[in-house]
Amino acid sequence: MDCPKRYDAMERLHKLVTLRDFETCSLESMSEYAKSYFSAGACSKSTPRENEEAFHRYRIRPRVLRDVSDAEMSCKVLNSHVSCPIGIAPVGLHVLAHQEAESATAKACCEEDCIFILSSSASTCIERVQYIVSSLKEIQPVLWMQTYIHKERLVTMNIIRRAESLGFSAIVVTVDSPNCGLWRNVMPEDFFKFVTSKMPNLPSLPRYLEDASITFEDLKWIVENTKLPVIAKGILSGEDAKKAVEIGVSAIIVSNHGGRLIERVVSTIDVLEEVVEAVSHSTIEVYVDGGIRSGSDVFISLALGAKGAFIGRPAIWGLSVEGENGVKKVLQILKEELLLTMQLAGASKIEDIKRSMVVKI
Ligand SMILES: Cc1cc2nc3c(=O)[nH]c(=O)nc-3n(C[C@H](O)[C@H](O)[C@H](O)COP(=O)(O)O)c2cc1C
Repeated sequence: MDCPKRYDAMERLHKLVTLRDFETCSLESMSEYAKSYFSAGACSKSTPRENEEAFHRYRIRPRVLRDVSDAEMSCKVLNSHVSCPIGIAPVGLHVLAHQEAESATAKACCEEDCIFILSSSASTCIERVQYIVSSLKEIQPVLWMQTYIHKERLVTMNIIRRAESLGFSAIVVTVDSPNCGLWRNVMPEDFFKFVTSKMPNLPSLPRYLEDASITFEDLKWIVENTKLPVIAKGILSGEDAKKAVEIGVSAIIVSNHGGRLIERVVSTIDVLEEVVEAVSHSTIEVYVDGGIRSGSDVFISLALGAKGAFIGRPAIWGLSVEGENGVKKVLQILKEELLLTMQLAGASKIEDIKRSMVVKI
């Protein structure tokens, strides 16, 4: 579809009815730097698409005649009540998409009562994001803070302590990045110089903070040194999931970093079930991200055992099109699509979504 530029903001948003519409509209209006940064995958732009395409190998098998007139999606994710099991994954540098950056995204999540994971590579101070959401009346935000295990461990601990004192409810530790990944190789030469001063939560660019020696012992060190629940992000095998359970994480995000790190990496939806199965003896929750572009993708994720589904790039598309309202509309579209899909498949509540409602072709 064409990006409806000739309309005013509200009319423009009204005309965007799928996440794909937002993608088209967003890519038409973003700067070249922004487009490269947000779209980049490992070695090429096609790797992130493989996450999306993997969802097409699953089909929904509905149950009928079940009185779904009271269908609703509210649920608990890691002990927080939320309107639906959909959240926004940590993505760096929102300012490249919109001047209000992470503040706008966080507000949209709060208004829609969805979880927001703030990236440590954010372009907005952690304190500022917390201040912005705390000024929203009668809203209990669910904010999680993401960090890497940096070479300088004090950098990681500084982020964790700030998140603890600001009332964040979980620490998301990204465990898939002993280096920064192959996406960097497809970026314009001068990009990194351009963004050097745009990450206020870190002392220098993450590439200088990376540590190829990290192990499960380092993750354990974090679990033992924070009062917040720790979520391991970037696990793609049952074996690693079991190790994460052993060291005491509270949840796992099955993620391949949006296809940015490894070319030909497995798609997240294809390994979700293995991870869920591996931790089924424990109480830990499993979430998934990567390639989720519609309510049916969320439905499939939940049927395969995820307790939550997170979006990365689609939130950025919304942000770049219309700031806070754009992110809100993206979340509203996903929520409405999920609710309608649940009714059509015979599920009145999230727990009614069963494994037998999805078939792999
Ligand atoms: C531009 C960009 C920046 C990202 N930055 C981070 C980050 O700072 N920390 C992190 O754990 N994951 C990061 N990710 C990965 C996302 O959290 C998430 O795993 C991924 O975007 C989900 O896939 P999707 O974009 O297909 O929805 C980033 C992804 C993108 C696209």
